[in-house]
Order: sequence, then structure tokens, then C-alpha cells
Amino acid sequence: MAYIIDGKALAQEVKSGVAAEVGRLRAQNIPVGLAVVIVGDDPASRVYVNNKKKSCAAVGIESFEFAMPASATTGELVALVRELNERPDVSGILVQQPLPKQISVETVNAAIDPMKDVDAFHPMNIGRVMTGDCPLLPCTPAGIMEMLRSIRCDLTGKECVVVGRSCIVGKPMALLLLQANATVTICHSRTKNLAEVCRRADVLVAAVGKRALITADMVKPGAVVIDVGMNRSETGKLCGDVDFPAVSEAASAITPVPGGVGPMTIAMLMRNTLTAAKLQYGLR
Ligand code: GUN
Repeated sequence: MAYIIDGKALAQEVKSGVAAEVGRLRAQNIPVGLAVVIVGDDPASRVYVNNKKKSCAAVGIESFEFAMPASATTGELVALVRELNERPDVSGILVQQPLPKQISVETVNAAIDPMKDVDAFHPMNIGRVMTGDCPLLPCTPAGIMEMLRSIRCDLTGKECVVVGRSCIVGKPMALLLLQANATVTICHSRTKNLAEVCRRADVLVAAVGKRALITADMVKPGAVVIDVGMNRSETGKLCGDVDFPAVSEAASAITPVPGGVGPMTIAMLMRNTLTAAKLQYGLR
């Protein structure tokens, strides 16, 4: 039976550290604030944004929500982002994705001040993640690296397989694993013999958004399995991409859903907002 990596507890530890530092900055009159922009009325996005705001309150970060209608244009969103770039009380800016189809995500991401880009979605930050010197790391991959560190998983020379090639998780995850000296393979919907490739993994990261995609026969005995999926079962229960009951019999460590990667993503967002506040005051 695998060790279950408690993302909720680890996130709490990270957030406690952030809260202490936020307190110290506030004592020096340095504001720490996160602007969260939500466009349209996607119910999942609403839940995520509310969770982010709740975490901000818990660690002493001020949050500012900006809601725009689903009909908003790229120009309107960029204008808002530019305003936020100028506000000294806004340390970090997060534009919740997905965005409505008429909006150019690339244009919006490129408009965010790279020093306030707490998602690390700006092209300059993507480049700095690639070169390994980005002060703001993409939240979900950074949270996963913390989870691997928490179980003292030495990645040097390990076979890591990432299933999913999104710009939010799959691609930056592969870069961070590579930075940690792992041998990395990225799989996606066109990958041939997915099961066979997954079976090579010492560390398997599933980030596709497909319930029970990863079955026990795809997991090498003793592998570490990280589940980034956020899916709903027929009964509405939250579940990941991994067939948890069966895979937890084969793996040495596994993350649950809920209570795994999700809380770590938010903890890293809090840490990035703190880092952004420090960057703006030349404190790093
Ligand atoms: N949508 C799903 N995950 C994320 C995230 O990490 N950041 C933003 N901005 N949108 C998301």
C-alpha cells in the first residue's frame, strides 16, 4: 500500500511560512496583495477563485477580485491588466483560465508585468523557467516539486513521465523535473503505447483531465504517482486522472484527489505573491 502524500498538510506548512513573512513585510508598510481576474461564469473557475481568495485571507494577503462579463474583449482585459500593473497595492496578478474563446490568452499573458506574474505565464517568465532562473515558478509544477521534496525523492537520473502537455502543467512540469536532473518524457493524446511508456516511470505525473486514465497496469511497482486531474464522477464526486484504489496498491507513494496537488497549487500561489511583493521592493 502506497504512502499517501498529504497535500493539504504540506500546503498548510507552506502557508504558515508565507503568513509569517507577510506579517514581517506589513510591519515595514510593504503591501502584499493579489488581484484575481475572472471572466465569464465558468462554475469551476468560480470555485477555484473563491478558494484562492480564502487562502489569501488566511495568510494575510489582501485579495482584489475583478469580474468581467463573458463578452469581454482582449482589449478590455488588457486595459484592466495594465491598470493593475501600475497599482502599488497589487503585488501579483492572476487571470483565471480558461478564458472565453474571443480573448487572446497570449496577448493577455504578455500584458502582465513579469514581476507581478504569479502564474509564470508571461513569455519572459516561461523563458526564465526554461533557463532555470525564474523567481516566480508555475504554481502546480512548483507544488509538485515540493511534494516530491517532502518525501525525499531524489530525482537525479530518475525516469519521469509526464502525461499531458498543457502550458499550465505538463510543459513546465517537464522543465522543472529536467532542472532536477531527471530523464523526462512527455506523453499526450497522440502518444503510441501510452501504457508501455508510463510503465517506465519512477515518477509518473498525470495531468490530462480524464478520469481513471492511469490504471494499475500502467504503473511500475514502487513508482511515485502524482495526480493533477480534477474530474467529476457520475455521482459528482471529485476525482483525479488515476484509478486511486488500484494504483495505490502498486505505487510507493501517491497523491490523493482531493487533498493532493490542488491545495499545493494554491500554497505556491501564496508564496509567489509574497515573492512578487518582495521583488517590487527590491527585497530579493
Ligand atoms: N486555471 C486552471 N489552473 C490555473 C492556474 O494555475 N492559473 C490560472 N490563472 N488559471 C488556471
